[in-house]
Amino acid sequence: MASIRPLSDALGCEITGIDLARDLDDPTFGTIEAALHEHLVAVLPGQRLQPNDFMAFARRFGQPEPHVIDQFHHPADANILILSNVLKDGEPIGLADAGTYFHTDYSYLAVPARCTMLYAIDVPARGAGTTFANQRRAWEDLPADTRARIDGLVCRHHYGNRDDLDEASRTAASRLSAAQQARMDWVRHPLVRRHTHTERPALYAVSGSSFGIEGMDDVEAIALLDDLKAHATHPRYRYTYDYRPGDVIIWDNAALLHAAPLVDMSRPRTLWRITIKDPGPTL
Ligand SMILES: [Fe+2]
Repeated sequence: MASIRPLSDALGCEITGIDLARDLDDPTFGTIEAALHEHLVAVLPGQRLQPNDFMAFARRFGQPEPHVIDQFHHPADANILILSNVLKDGEPIGLADAGTYFHTDYSYLAVPARCTMLYAIDVPARGAGTTFANQRRAWEDLPADTRARIDGLVCRHHYGNRDDLDEASRTAASRLSAAQQARMDWVRHPLVRRHTHTERPALYAVSGSSFGIEGMDDVEAIALLDDLKAHATHPRYRYTYDYRPGDVIIWDNAALLHAAPLVDMSRPRTLWRITIKDPGPTL
């Protein structure tokens, strides 16, 4: 019997009483999906999953999209990206620093991510969690005149972190090879986005891949995006989740920003990640 409890005033819930390796019937999935739409982050602790179990659960949410960084795909399934700071024979087994700045996944693609899910394999006890910021509430809290002014604007997005373009920095976007870079193009998304499944509006990707606004000069656009980012990442909208081994965590990319931790390289941290495409148009 599933039980749901909120994790903070800002966002997030924990769902217990579900074994994801066995319980994938429609009512159970419906419970998880509804909790995700309401709380934007759902944690299911104490799971024991093989790659095919994790994939079977992920596919209930939609079609997976492998990450552009293809050298760390899981050998059993390319849809699983290995996040890890562990070295084997001197070589990294996974992507160590993945999005250590506020961003939302795949906002640099024409078809962005509906949700991202992680399965925690080996994680430090504290200080290696992901910080989330509730963009639905950040939108709702804006003054009415600001909402009227920005609703309908269209942002220009590209792979990268608007605030840090130094590829040697750990707070820049993960470096791409020349071939991976060649696959990246400019894409367009609304600044205020209606959720594909709930139709509820939220600020969308005001940090990370947003580099401009259509019909606005870049200086004015960046100033507006920076103001919105400062508002949308205020501590009252934030919650940091510290992983435990066996956790499965799912987050809603249409209504959140998130930032991964700057990982202490001396403490092993390995998680599997799957990202699911959003089935709806953003514009
Ligand atoms: Fe991310």
